[in-house]
Amino acid sequence: MPDATFRALLLHEENKQVRAAIEELERDRLPEGDVLVQVAYSSLNYKDGLALTGQGRIVRKYPMVPGLDLSGTVVESSSSRFQPGDPVVMTGCGSSETFWGGYTQMSRLPAGCFVRIPPGISLKQAMGVGTAGFTAMQCVMALEAHGLAPGEKEVVVTGAAGGVGSVAVAILSKLGYRVAASTGRPEQHDFLRSLGAARIVERSALAAQGKPMESEQWAGAVDAVGGDVLAGVIRFLARGTSVAACGLAGGGHLNTTVYPFILRGVNLLGINSVEVAVAEREAIWARLARDLPLDKLDSLIQVAPLGESPALAKEILAGRVRGRLVIDVNR
Ligand SMILES: NC(=O)c1ccc[n+]([C@@H]2O[C@H](COP(=O)([O-])OP(=O)(O)OC[C@H]3O[C@@H](n4cnc5c(N)ncnc54)[C@H](OP(=O)(O)O)[C@@H]3O)[C@@H](O)[C@H]2O)c1
Repeated sequence: MPDATFRALLLHEENKQVRAAIEELERDRLPEGDVLVQVAYSSLNYKDGLALTGQGRIVRKYPMVPGLDLSGTVVESSSSRFQPGDPVVMTGCGSSETFWGGYTQMSRLPAGCFVRIPPGISLKQAMGVGTAGFTAMQCVMALEAHGLAPGEKEVVVTGAAGGVGSVAVAILSKLGYRVAASTGRPEQHDFLRSLGAARIVERSALAAQGKPMESEQWAGAVDAVGGDVLAGVIRFLARGTSVAACGLAGGGHLNTTVYPFILRGVNLLGINSVEVAVAEREAIWARLARDLPLDKLDSLIQVAPLGESPALAKEILAGRVRGRLVIDVNR
């Protein structure tokens, strides 16, 4: 039986400013839900950076326990899908928006938020994946559903040294694709090669202005950046190929033309990791278990204690975090 109290990071809104504080809470403060989980780890995604710093209107009601993601062990369950002792993972399902999220030692949520962690993946590795890695796999699966298969041409990954990007590079190279990793950080070139990137593309080269259509370079693309970088990716897509667009780290605007769409038949695939049905979440985790090499995953994880998350939030928004940050909620 878990303790009567638990530690959580709470966000409060005071005079339109967001304040984060680690607090000791009574068990009865936990919201209603079918599954009670003893949390081991959470993670820090770009969107967590926005929530922790009060930007982007992520949190809809305060006080809020932030954290899109968590991994842990089931303590109690009124759902037939889970038994006490099951290792489970939750990635963005309204957490940190309307539900309490993962920056806590205890969590109670609807069963539909959780997926049993596939055998072989540890609680820490599940948070090495987190929303960013889950989204990277969603992007790969969306590209496959639109005809992507290994071949001569490269698949480009933008924001490659970040969370979504680094996991996408590792998955795509394992699947046999030639991966071009686009980054704005020269100091991360070796890291990206170690994940399997065959070539590095400067972020500035993709973001530069150019003709409505350029030479057909990419067999597909995973874009975590948006803005001018996404516009650049679209201009270089080969005939009939697709870009899976999931992010806006470089901006929410998209200044492009219709020519690549109507003359080359390229596709812009929007990816949303929050509104995903349970069966699809399970299928994505099964693919992660099969196609994300765990040694590569381990190499892109850094672990930080809960109390450092507000400072790390500023770092991720500044584009200075490499790979994935796992948050140890018990430290
Ligand atoms: N649609 C969804 O459901 C979904 C799910 C997950 C994430 N996302 C979004 O995807 C994006 C990436 O998330 P993440 O957690 O992977 O974040 P992250 O770890 O911070 O990675 C973002 C990467 O983008 C690049 N970048 C940062 N600032 C930039 C700028 N000003 N201009 C151009 N490139 C910049 C950097 O890569 P380099 O240093 O390598 O250039 C950075 O590492 C975020 O916008 C996030 O909100 C969306």
